[in-house]
Amino acid sequence: MKTALITGGAARIGAQIARTLHENNFKIIIHCNQSLEKAQLLSGELNSIIKDSSEVISGNLNNIESISNIVNSVDSLDLLVNNASVFYPKSVKSSEIDDWNDVINVNLRAPFFLSKGLSKKLSVRNGSIINIIDIHADRPLKNHAVYNISKAGLKMMTQTLAKELAPNIRVNGVSPGSILWPEASAEISEAEKKLMLERIALNRQGSPQDIADTVLFLANSDYITGQIINIDGGRTLNQ
Ligand SMILES: NC(=O)c1ccc[n+]([C@@H]2O[C@H](COP(=O)([O-])OP(=O)(O)OC[C@H]3O[C@@H](n4cnc5c(N)ncnc54)[C@H](OP(=O)(O)O)[C@@H]3O)[C@@H](O)[C@H]2O)c1
Repeated sequence: MKTALITGGAARIGAQIARTLHENNFKIIIHCNQSLEKAQLLSGELNSIIKDSSEVISGNLNNIESISNIVNSVDSLDLLVNNASVFYPKSVKSSEIDDWNDVINVNLRAPFFLSKGLSKKLSVRNGSIINIIDIHADRPLKNHAVYNISKAGLKMMTQTLAKELAPNIRVNGVSPGSILWPEASAEISEAEKKLMLERIALNRQGSPQDIADTVLFLANSDYITGQIINIDGGRTLNQ
């Protein structure tokens, strides 16, 4: 079995990526921060299907030491999926230095230093990296200033790493459109949801499975590197 590390893999899109890769013969290292219980439950579920096929690593990706700990605790790796992300509304005017540090550290700095730190281990296995970006890396989502900037950076990082880490490591990105409504602090109204759905050519949200299937496709596509695939139901046609 190959081994995949998925950041933010305990819930939502990350958990679906974990399940799908596991169904397709990957051992899964589920990284989590606050969702330790969910991560352990998912890991237990995967281990009950195939013995010793999953483990959990926790760590706050805002913290550079946690990134070193994660890098050091992985023995061998075929696939890194940088999925963890911070998302909440903040306009340019209301963004403070703490917002900048939190969002940039988790969404941009962490994928860079995880990729860099794990590149030797990935290289010996001819592995790959998949960054989960956002269609708003190209056109900004209003009131999400630092988030947009972080995802635009992640898109450029995907191309930069693809160039520099070749030929042994492939690096690609998946840019979701609207897949799952945000939770907690980023929650949006029913009227806003309706407006967003009307702008999608297919008139509906995608599913976490749509993202997971694309991650699997890229993980198995030996001659694709430096590419970013939008999974957005045609949302970008109307942007
Ligand atoms: N949902 C969508 O429709 C949509 C649309 C466009 C792009 N995307 C992108 O797709 C990916 C997955 O989306 P999602 O909605 O499933 O994401 P999410 O639920 O907002 O976040 C995924 C995970 O990120 C982890 N995370 C947040 N802050 C962290 C920190 N400081 N340290 C470590 N982990 C941290 C959390 O792990 P814990 O719970 O363990 O703390 C969380 O479960 C993200 O990159 C997102 O930007 C999603």
